[in-house]
Amino acid sequence: LRILLTGKDGQVGWELARRLPALGEVTALSRAELDLADPIAILERVRAVKPDVIVNAAAYTAVDRAESERDQATLVNAAGPGFLAAEAHACGALLVHYSTDYVFDGRKPTPYVETDPCNPLSVYGQSKLAGERAIQAAGCRHLILRTAWVYASRGRNFLLTMLRLAKERPELRVVDDQTGSPTWAREIAIATVALLSRRDALEGTYHLTASGATTWCGFAREIVKLAGLETPVHAITTADYPTPAQRPRNSVLSTERLRQDAGLALPDWRESLASCLAELRGGAG
Ligand SMILES: NC(=O)c1ccc[n+]([C@@H]2O[C@H](COP(=O)([O-])OP(=O)(O)OC[C@H]3O[C@@H](n4cnc5c(N)ncnc54)[C@H](OP(=O)(O)O)[C@@H]3O)[C@@H](O)[C@H]2O)c1
Repeated sequence: LRILLTGKDGQVGWELARRLPALGEVTALSRAELDLADPIAILERVRAVKPDVIVNAAAYTAVDRAESERDQATLVNAAGPGFLAAEAHACGALLVHYSTDYVFDGRKPTPYVETDPCNPLSVYGQSKLAGERAIQAAGCRHLILRTAWVYASRGRNFLLTMLRLAKERPELRVVDDQTGSPTWAREIAIATVALLSRRDALEGTYHLTASGATTWCGFAREIVKLAGLETPVHAITTADYPTPAQRPRNSVLSTERLRQDAGLALPDWRESLASCLAELRGGAG
C-alpha cells in the first residue's frame, strides 16, 4: 500500500508518521516539502508518488489568527484539500482528511451527529467546512474525520500551555462555559490506522473524539491534578476571556456512527490524558 502523508510535523501528523508504516510504504511530507497552498506542488507530488491512500494531516490551525488571515486559512484548509481530492479522484486513491467541531455553532444542547447542520462561527471553522465540501464535490473516495480539542506531548496545545502556566503563575483562570472532548493526537492516529485497515467498508464523514466531555476549566484542573501541581484553577466565562474567534459553547461530538460502522471507540479523555502525561514525565526523566 502506498501512502502519502501531509503535515508530518503537526500533532496528528507526527503520530501518523510513526504508525502508518505498519500498513505500507509511507511518503511523509512536511510543510516545506509540500505546501498545501501550492496547487502545482500538490499535483506534482501526488502524480509522482501514485498513492493508494492520501492522509491529509496538514492544516492552518491558528484559530484566532485566521480571523485576520482568511485568505491563507482558506487556501490551506479548503483549496488545498480540494486539489488533493481532485488528484485522489484522478489516481483512484482514498483521501483521509481531518475536520473539526468548529464547523458547528455549539447551540445544540446535546452531542452533534454527523448529519447535523453546520454553521461555523469562525473563519477557521468556515475554512474547514469549505474543505469538507471541496472534498465531497471532487468525487474521490474519502473519509472525513471530525475531531476536537487535540493535544499531544509536543507541538502547540492547551495541555502544554497549562503545564507551563501552572508552574509560572500563582493561579489560573480558565473558561468554564465551553464543553468538548479533549482528544490525544496518538489516539487519532491509532484510530486512523484501524480505519484504514478496513478501508473498503468505510466512507464519508465520521466524528472521532475521546469519550466523555468536560470544559476547558475541567480539562485544566485534571492536567494540574495529574501533574501533581497545586495551582488553583478558577472558572471564568467566555465573556471574561475575549478572543478574536468565536468558539462553540457545545463542541461535544457523538461518536456513535464510528462505533456502529467500525466498532471503534476512543478511550475516556481522562485516561488518555493520564497516558500522555506519563509519557511526558518519562521523557523528562
Ligand atoms: N488542534 C486542534 O485542537 C484540532 C481540533 C479539531 C480539528 N483539528 C484538525 O486536526 C488536523 C490535525 O491538526 P493538528 O492539531 O495536528 O494541527 P497542527 O499541530 O497545527 O499541525 C498542522 C500541520 O500542518 C502544517 N501546515 C500548516 N500550513 C501548511 C501548509 N500551507 N502546507 C502544508 N502544511 C501546513 C503545520 O506546519 P507549521 O507548524 O509549519 O505551520 C503543521 O505541521 C487538522 O485538520 C485540524 O484542522 C485540530
